[in-house]
Order: sequence, then structure tokens, then C-alpha cells
Amino acid sequence: MTVLPRILVLNGPNLQLLGTRKPDIYGTRSLADVEDRARALAGELGLAVECRQSNHEGELVDWIGDAPGSFVGIVLNAGAYTHTSVAIRDAIEGVGLPTIEVHISNVYAREEFRHRSLIAPVCLGQICGLGTPGYELALRALAAYLKQIGPAQTEGPTE
Ligand code: DQA
Repeated sequence: MTVLPRILVLNGPNLQLLGTRKPDIYGTRSLADVEDRARALAGELGLAVECRQSNHEGELVDWIGDAPGSFVGIVLNAGAYTHTSVAIRDAIEGVGLPTIEVHISNVYAREEFRHRSLIAPVCLGQICGLGTPGYELALRALAAYLKQIGPAQTEGPTE
């Protein structure tokens, strides 16, 4: 059996509405479609992904806290919690897993309250404003980073 390093792809509040919510801003792809594409790309990159979505801050915090030992990295679109959640930021910082923040829309071109991310400073990087392909770009970036830091850091949590 092939063992693949596992990536946790997390989506926060209202992202279950992808495809129907403000398609002019978030596009017409459903979350299931975005997740399918992430899974397909992960296979090509030699990774496995597990995709989860929650509207509840505590659930996201729990999933991040439990990630070490099961996952080697995180792709995170925390939705509106991006701009408010000290708890999610602390969870990412606490577990220390390489995390890439994704925003489908260009938050810097929108309302001022979206300009600040509490999470970005504890992430490896941020992909923003490139639509739903941003998740795939994040996976590619994480794959390149994991390759660069070497096998020691990617050992252990595999599928
Ligand atoms: C978002 C941007 C956030 O400001 C917003 O609350 C979302 C989606 C994005 O992907 O562009 O829910 O994270």
C-alpha cells in the first residue's frame, strides 16, 4: 500500500454555500466540486487530502488541534473567522503545522473589515483573489514546501 502524506483542507462558515452564494464574488463551483478537484490534484502531487467544512469556530479549533499526528499541513479558508478569530489563530500557531490561508475573493479589494487577517501572520502564506483555483495553488505550494523541508518532516501521518 502506498503511504501518502496527508493534508487537511478546512473551510469555515458559509463556504458550504459555494456555487450559490454571491457567484459574482465566489464563482459557480460548489464546495463538493472544489473538494473533488483538490483530491484529484493531491493524487498527482503524491499527497492525500481530507476535506472538512464547519460553520462553528470551536469545531474548526478542535480539528486544527487534533491535526498533528494525522496531517502534515493545512489549507485553510476560515471565511469570516479570518477577520475575528483569535482562537483559530492560536490553534494554527499552537500546532505549528505549515498552513496556507486561502481566500477565493480579493479581500483587500472589498470592505475594510476584510482587510485584516488574524490568521495570516501564523501561516506560511496566503493565496487570495484567484477564485476557487486558489485551493489548488495552495496545495501545490504546500507540496513544494514539504518537498523542500525534506522527508523527516513529512514522515508519520500517512494514508
Ligand atoms: C472569504 C472572504 C471572507 O471575508 C468571507 O467572510 C468569506 C469568504 C473568501 O474566500 O474570499 O466567507 O474567506
